[in-house]
Amino acid sequence: MIEPATNPTAQQDQTTPKETRTFLQRARQFLIIFGAFYVALLVLLAIPVFQSHILYLHAVRLPLFAKYDAPEKYGLAPNKTLNFHLNTSDNEAIGAWFILSDRYYHSLPTIPTSVNDHITEAVRSHPTILFLHGNAATRAMPTRIRHYAGFTSRLSTNVLAIDYRGYADSTGSPSEAGLVRDARGAWDWLISQGTKEEDIILVGHSLGTGVASQLAAQFGREGIKPRGLVMLAPFSSIRELLNTYHIFGLFPLAKPLSMIPFGTNLLSLALIHKYDSLSVVPDIKTNVVISHAANDWEIPSTHSEALLEAFLDPYLPPVDIPSNPIGMNQAEWAAYTTQQTVRLSERNKLIKRTELQNFGTLQEFTDEGRKVVFVKSFEGGHNRPGTQEGVQDVIGRTLGLF
Ligand SMILES: *[C@@H]1O[C@H](CO)[C@@H](O)[C@H](O)[C@H]1NC(C)=O
Ligand SMILES: *[C@@H]1O[C@H](CO)[C@@H](O)[C@H](O)[C@H]1NC(C)=O
Repeated sequence: MIEPATNPTAQQDQTTPKETRTFLQRARQFLIIFGAFYVALLVLLAIPVFQSHILYLHAVRLPLFAKYDAPEKYGLAPNKTLNFHLNTSDNEAIGAWFILSDRYYHSLPTIPTSVNDHITEAVRSHPTILFLHGNAATRAMPTRIRHYAGFTSRLSTNVLAIDYRGYADSTGSPSEAGLVRDARGAWDWLISQGTKEEDIILVGHSLGTGVASQLAAQFGREGIKPRGLVMLAPFSSIRELLNTYHIFGLFPLAKPLSMIPFGTNLLSLALIHKYDSLSVVPDIKTNVVISHAANDWEIPSTHSEALLEAFLDPYLPPVDIPSNPIGMNQAEWAAYTTQQTVRLSERNKLIKRTELQNFGTLQEFTDEGRKVVFVKSFEGGHNRPGTQEGVQDVIGRTLGLF
């Protein structure tokens, strides 16, 4: 039953305008502060040195005061890891961990006293993952350790994890070309230890996928054949990322800019670091596994979908984009939609789609002996798709690790 209005409600009515006013004031205050924060962020983004810091976040040295020479402190088994520095072609010293495959480590009669003495045998007997981490923090971060633990146990691979120039205990400062060079230095070191090309898997996470895809494309052009490329929570390019990035997973970064003429163009003009993975797709010749979580609020899975489409593109009939889409006549429109239908049906013939209950969806195709697989999991957020057993098994099966 609805009570008739009584005195207390009348009293409330008297106080409401005041409360409304203070609420509005607070809301306005919030908008002003947020607006100022937003403008400041855009200005900083346009200044090269800050753009680097915002993109790479290499000054964030987490965990604090990390002891890189004691990987055991971060959860890895005693003397399973060699901590060392490797050298790049331009003389940067790159902090690195070489972590033995559990199957190899457990085959030893006792805990080794020198991991260094076992590297040649470990890379000869087991494949090795070259792990290229995302932005911020170091190779000792707990979520990264969970990747190494999963790879060395479930996949029985060795892992080489590096901290790019400017990160952790490495020298130098980060740049796009520099990070790719660091990854190449790590590859060269593995080869110098006797690792075969086909026993190395490039695994990148987030920013690291931009590095890994460029290295894989370099190898494609040079005829070097790694076993595969794994992209965990990738982005298609920084430019696209800016268009879809949500600050704190909430606020679309480029949205307000897109409302002013040439706003988005301004942003990409100011962009020094491009990491345009999409444009190097045609040069990538090795097996590819792309993994993205549906609940990744930092980089939406549409980036992975764009990458998958780029891998498919050469095998599908083209659709001619009409020069004047608004002024199309009926015949032109019919031709256009027919092309689209044909392309879609060819795509569905080429790609095998599997629903994995409670886990996600698998899409895969094979071309000229090379496999391309996209696993979209329900869970994993931005940082943990690669720690999921289901994703690790897709990597293992696709790249012949089992
Ligand atoms: C890198 O270079 C330094 C100095 O030249 C050297 O001491 C070190 O052994 C080199 N490291 C490797 C892994 O080759
Ligand atoms: C690990 O190796 C060091 C020497 O590098 C050795 O002193 C130590 O006893 C080893 N740890 C274990 C648990 O065997």
